[in-house]
Amino acid sequence: MNNNVNIAIIGLGQVGGYLYKELLKNRLNINLLTGKKINIVAISAKNLKKKRQFKLNKKIFYSNPLKVIKKEKIDILFECIGLADGISKKIVENALRRKIHIITPNKALISKHGDYLSKIAEKNKVNLEFEASVGGGIPILRTIKEGLATNKISKVYGILNGTCNYILSEMEKTKDNFRNVLRKAQKLGYAEPGNPKLDLNGYDAFAKVKILSALAFNKRLSNSVSLMEGIENVEPKDFEIADQLNLRIKLLGITEIINNKLFERVHPCLVKKNTYIGNVNGVMNAVILEGKPVGESVLQGEGAGPEPTSSALMSDLMSILRGNIKYPFGIPTAKRKKIKSYDLNNYENSLYIRFEVKDKQGVLSQITKNLANNKISIQRLIQIPNNKNKTASIVIITHATKQIHSDKCLRLLQKNKNVLKKPVLLRLFK
Ligand SMILES: NC(=O)c1ccc[n+]([C@@H]2O[C@H](COP(=O)([O-])OP(=O)(O)OC[C@H]3O[C@@H](n4cnc5c(N)ncnc54)[C@H](OP(=O)(O)O)[C@@H]3O)[C@@H](O)[C@H]2O)c1
Repeated sequence: MNNNVNIAIIGLGQVGGYLYKELLKNRLNINLLTGKKINIVAISAKNLKKKRQFKLNKKIFYSNPLKVIKKEKIDILFECIGLADGISKKIVENALRRKIHIITPNKALISKHGDYLSKIAEKNKVNLEFEASVGGGIPILRTIKEGLATNKISKVYGILNGTCNYILSEMEKTKDNFRNVLRKAQKLGYAEPGNPKLDLNGYDAFAKVKILSALAFNKRLSNSVSLMEGIENVEPKDFEIADQLNLRIKLLGITEIINNKLFERVHPCLVKKNTYIGNVNGVMNAVILEGKPVGESVLQGEGAGPEPTSSALMSDLMSILRGNIKYPFGIPTAKRKKIKSYDLNNYENSLYIRFEVKDKQGVLSQITKNLANNKISIQRLIQIPNNKNKTASIVIITHATKQIHSDKCLRLLQKNKNVLKKPVLLRLFK
């Protein structure tokens, strides 16, 4: 790469718009740090007329991003549109084939097409960088690829979605319900105003888990979803009971190797209040890695928003400008093996199950009998009557229980006329 580096930014929304300003502001600094002079030669968004937070240079604006790589000589392209398919994939594919380095915060694209795209990048000897796709400003991917390169990592877990962590923290603090707290999160810009579903149902965190697994275990990206549950069913009652048990509710993303199989999962967990992860609150993200010989490493920081995301995008830029042209996933894609998925049925841990039932004689014994029939043993039982409605909440904390048994038991109990709605299931984090 010569000393004059041509840059294109595709997508000028929250992330791309902020990045544009950052690049303009940091030109001298970048020159000082890398000896390279960057020139933004093209920017692209859908709508030229849209009101933006910055002055848009119309002379370099393209409404069709594919024209950017056809007409301009680009060295590095930032893809900041989003989504796994469509124009984002097309632009990245085409740019890599034209030997243009790509930097993207797009976890949906990387978690779905990362293997395919990294092969194209490797063939064309350019970089495909995606530090900003996981954990916002936390330099977690570079830490795995470089700082912990020779470690054998056995487990990576953490709080990977700031929206969910904010909602859960706020529900615990205010005792308010999910809908109201979600509305507040949307007002504050912590949750998407239109459709926050992909954050709330665990999809966003799962995409990040997939990327973490591929890097931590030097494997191909997995293409199955074994266990993905969101936070939509958690109620204020669950926080009250968790509090009594000295526990807190967190949405965790977890990836680990069990008996040479890959087990990736995202679900709400009950964590002990006195643990590190139990004290990561609000929009914060945190990732914990267990490896040898390093032991346990913790990284925490702001997980989303244009500022931390831009920080990660800039670090990718620095890496490329310093000539650190490496394999996107740390080692050649051809050497990254596929790994079989762990059988979810065998997953075993302690469960919190809350049943809402009619408060009448015999109901509790119907539940406990069903649990016993399905090899589920009770560690603790809490019964909270609601005299006004003649209903009761029955909370059961189980001993270690196999997924196959709890699935069957809950399926049966949901059919019981005395069980008023789908039981809430949370997993105790071990
Ligand atoms: N927002 C965050 O905090 C955050 C954090 C981490 C990662 N990310 C990732 O960053 C990426 C961008 O997110 P964002 O929040 O910045 O999204 P956004 O605000 O919705 O911005 C998307 C941008 O893409 C442009 N665009 C859409 N279709 C286009 C097309 N066909 N051709 C050219 N431009 C097109 C839009 O143009 P108009 O402006 O004209 O509509 C807009 O500028 C996503 O992959 C997201 O997952 C975001």
